[in-house]
Amino acid sequence: MVISKNMENLVAGSSVIRKLFEEGLQMAQIYGADKVYDFSLGNPASPVPEKVHEAIKDVLNNNSDAYVHGYMKNAGFEETRQAVADYLNKSFGMGYGGEDIVMTVGAAGAMNCIFRAILSPEDEVIAFAPFFGEYKNYASNYGGKLTVVPADTDTFDLNLKELDKNITEKTKCIIVNNPNNPSGRIYSKETIEELGKIVDEAEKRVGHPIYILCDEPYRQLAYDGKAVPYIPSIIKNSIYIYSYSKTLSIPGERIGYLAISKNADCYDELIGAFVVANRCLGYVNAPSLFQLVISRCQDVTVDLDFYDRNRKVLYDSLTKLGFDVVKPEGAFYLLVKSPIEDCDKFVELAKEQHIIFVNTMTFGCPGYVRIAYCVDYEMIKRSINAFKQLAIKCGISS
Ligand SMILES: Cc1ncc(COP(=O)(O)O)c(C=O)c1O
Repeated sequence: MVISKNMENLVAGSSVIRKLFEEGLQMAQIYGADKVYDFSLGNPASPVPEKVHEAIKDVLNNNSDAYVHGYMKNAGFEETRQAVADYLNKSFGMGYGGEDIVMTVGAAGAMNCIFRAILSPEDEVIAFAPFFGEYKNYASNYGGKLTVVPADTDTFDLNLKELDKNITEKTKCIIVNNPNNPSGRIYSKETIEELGKIVDEAEKRVGHPIYILCDEPYRQLAYDGKAVPYIPSIIKNSIYIYSYSKTLSIPGERIGYLAISKNADCYDELIGAFVVANRCLGYVNAPSLFQLVISRCQDVTVDLDFYDRNRKVLYDSLTKLGFDVVKPEGAFYLLVKSPIEDCDKFVELAKEQHIIFVNTMTFGCPGYVRIAYCVDYEMIKRSINAFKQLAIKCGISS
């Protein structure tokens, strides 16, 4: 084998979601694209806001090629970092300076920079189930281990009762993804305050800081006016991670950032290490054109109604058909409990109806499937009859 042992394992367990997505493409060729209902991937279908298109033109028309397309500081353009800091300060009453922001290759790039900076082999990262499966791979890139706090399937809230016993001397950070992929749950201010108390006590016990990584690519996708607390304003040792992939529908552009407040323990060490990690990992800097674009689009978000309409019709229709559905409060995913014992079989039965969704086993939450409803509304409407057939096959509807 020419590839490393670690890579061998990664290839063997290669993304189930991606495989399903490819299966969906094949099915579309066989049955016709309008007869396949692919809910596998979190690839946003909502149109890119017009302001983003205008900003692209503005950047290209009003700057030199050398500025727009050249190398820059590894942390990113100063004007972009300042625009991000101003936005966070205005929105959440923070006191960030541009120097506290590092522009990254999406949230994934930010997370890799952070792990590169803080993890030594065998160090532990905690995630609450259900969690975005890539966390495990990102931690393992640097020899880190993911410790999973089991899901509280009664509420899908952060399972704080189970947290403390999972914190050890090796725990470096705890990931909190709010709103959550895949449950759509939004964790409240009270829950975050409670988390802060537990982590405070644990830090005293283990004798070093434990950072909260606030992974928030879905922050603006919150329905019914529900508030998403800004964790760094509640917990001092927080590192904020944001991405424009979902909220501007531009995942292919790979643009996001990390932010750390000067109040966080070991700020100086960390911010320097994050910038060097961005370079050493080979990212060098976040994509330059889109850094300049997003600095002009801080107040812009995709049309929330696009997803809210999908959320409502799917939740109502599936509930009526007898499925046990977790009502999403944010993001664009919906969890459905498998109505039969064997969840893999449920996924297969769905495929027979040309419905594609993923088993959330890889999200640390067996017995459920995730429906990514970031798709066209017309496809959802067409899919309802297929869901009806599925409900009949599963014996929950007649
Ligand atoms: C919870 C969560 N975190 C991070 C990411 C990575 O996003 P990005 O495209 O910004 O790298 C995703 C993407 O689906 C996600 O769902």
